[in-house]
Amino acid sequence: MSITVKQLHPLFVGEVSGVDLAQPLSAADHDAIAAAIDRYAVVVFHDQRLTDDQQIDFARHFGPIHSSAQKARHRGIRHRLARDEIADISNLDGDSQVLDVNHRRRLDWLANRLWHTDASFRAVPGALSMLYAHVVPPEGGNTEFADLRAAYDDLPDATKKLLDGLVAEHSIWHSRGQLGVTEYTPDELASLPPVPQRVVRTHPGSKRKTLYLAAHASHILGMPVADGRLLLLDLVEHATQPKYVHAHSWRQGDLVIWDNRCTMHRARPFDTTQVRDLRRVTTADVASTLEQAA
Ligand code: OGA
Ligand code: MN
Repeated sequence: MSITVKQLHPLFVGEVSGVDLAQPLSAADHDAIAAAIDRYAVVVFHDQRLTDDQQIDFARHFGPIHSSAQKARHRGIRHRLARDEIADISNLDGDSQVLDVNHRRRLDWLANRLWHTDASFRAVPGALSMLYAHVVPPEGGNTEFADLRAAYDDLPDATKKLLDGLVAEHSIWHSRGQLGVTEYTPDELASLPPVPQRVVRTHPGSKRKTLYLAAHASHILGMPVADGRLLLLDLVEHATQPKYVHAHSWRQGDLVIWDNRCTMHRARPFDTTQVRDLRRVTTADVASTLEQAA
């Protein structure tokens, strides 16, 4: 079997066939998948059967793993999944019951419904996220992706010039605060202080310039907060026009990899009394965006 890729959107998103990700990954398959990620930014695999350990082993081929920030954030809450490398993206509690509507982990997780890129609020942000579907609800619960390379390419030259060298402050508390979710302990707040990230960066694989945006970005350094926030809101509005967006409808056994360095994504609504069990492994970027090419 050899890997083939079918493009699902005029700009990005490749559907990859011809590989069983539960098996040891050959060098040729690794290289084909890495090339597909650089080209398509989001890649989709169907009909996979992965344990948590296999999902982690697969991800390790693509970089060091960011251990779950969620656990730093929710000390004292019992977790369903044993391995720190897995972020629990389900709506289930430590006993595998659907989270109560007011459960603090549920309220925190609702921030995934805002356009974002993973872990931009950490000094060394997320690179590749790999989300695997164990159980999907009967309807809804899509994930949408936006191509921030294409969105950057289409900006007027004057805007590109304005953005040149700008740095935004990112904080996980900013994305939560937009939803009125503010009940975090002083320890939690102190564990993830705000970090600076470039607004425009060059993707190391494709060498394409791209916007780097997220609901975590609150303002632009060196600009009045209000001006910076308005600029970020305008950029997110531009970058999430339908022409840049692809919706993924989940099937059990799907693994979707997205490149946080050049995309945004958001979860869409579903009936949250139904089980949705998705689990994510994320690789770490090599350094802060400030230490990488603009
Ligand atoms: C994530 C995320 C969206 C979804 O796993 O990082 O934002 O649809 N997920 O669950
Ligand atoms: Mn996310």
